[in-house]
Amino acid sequence: MTTPTIELKPTSHPLSDAEREQILASPGFGRHFTDHMVTIRWTEGRGWHDAQLVPYAPLSIDPANMTLHYAQAIFEGLKAYRQPDGSVATFRPDENARRFQDSARRLAMPELPVETFVEACDALVKQDKAWVPGSGEQSLYLRPFMFATEVGLGVRPSNEYLFVVIASPAGAYFPGGVKPVSVWLSQEYVRAAPGGTGAAKCAGNYAASLVAQAQAAEHGCDQVVWLDAVERRWIEEMGGMNLYFVYGNRIVTPRLTGTLLPGITRASLLQIAADLGYEVSESRISVDDWKDGNADGSLTEVFACGTAAVITPVGSVKSTTGDWTVGDGQPGEVTMKLRKALLDIQTGAAEDTHGWMHRL
Ligand code: PLP
Ligand code: COI
Repeated sequence: MTTPTIELKPTSHPLSDAEREQILASPGFGRHFTDHMVTIRWTEGRGWHDAQLVPYAPLSIDPANMTLHYAQAIFEGLKAYRQPDGSVATFRPDENARRFQDSARRLAMPELPVETFVEACDALVKQDKAWVPGSGEQSLYLRPFMFATEVGLGVRPSNEYLFVVIASPAGAYFPGGVKPVSVWLSQEYVRAAPGGTGAAKCAGNYAASLVAQAQAAEHGCDQVVWLDAVERRWIEEMGGMNLYFVYGNRIVTPRLTGTLLPGITRASLLQIAADLGYEVSESRISVDDWKDGNADGSLTEVFACGTAAVITPVGSVKSTTGDWTVGDGQPGEVTMKLRKALLDIQTGAAEDTHGWMHRL
């Protein structure tokens, strides 16, 4: 029997200034990590303890670690942006902290206090500030996460957990830049059913999405669009993004049903679009609404939104019941206007009238 070759990659943090600058010139997404991380432990009867800011390093996991078997694992994603005066600010970290608590409750995990979540993100960004890219849309993506650390195979909530924050410089999530994505309507697989974990940001949701994402790729599409589990008719969201439908001056996003992730970008855009004078609403949108609105020209644009992807136009749709181009297949005017308005707030180019930026 041959032994597979395993490439050993010793951690070489901290990197030199020159190495870091080279990474920041073209960071990609989620490929490079900063020099440090924050860890906080939780133990039954003791609560949260041992908060540490330590060099970024591998974690040692027991083979019977409960997470590896039963997937008590949740995460968040938020970004820190360089401001015009050189300082750094994160976008709505308290909202991520609250959603992290909601996810924890759904997975029978302990809730980290909002202030501790924000403090942990702040500590890492301050320590690794040199990793926050200096320009425009680029940012430092923060990935707070928590998983069970008890060792054992009994199926029940773990009695100990580890909360960790790591950070990764981020360029564009889609390497092609602002280029409309093509989407595959998943009619075979579903992401979330009523009563399930769809509204939680838990690792298992993403594991379950990968086969449909692969199916999308087989059909030549960039992303999968999830439909509701019961009727396979209502549009829910994409793999890592929420969706918006533009009807001229009227903008609609699927309403939160408990089976889709309540995106912070989605919530922010409801406000920004209203500020810009659009008529905004949350409602149910069916596949037929999409198809018909497209055919009669009333549906002018569709875009996806999320922390990692910001705002990305949807250019074309493929499904088992037909294919169509959205509008003229190009990035729409409203999409690009909202994208600029959001990024201007995040990068400090526009006034933060809602107090969303958390300055460090
Ligand atoms: N939907 C899913 C499944 C996601 O993973 C994400 C990303 O976090 C979103 C939507 C968008 O959420 P947010 O805007 O909070 O990043
Ligand atoms: C995010 O936008 O933060 C996400 O979590 C999407 C994806 C990278 C999982």
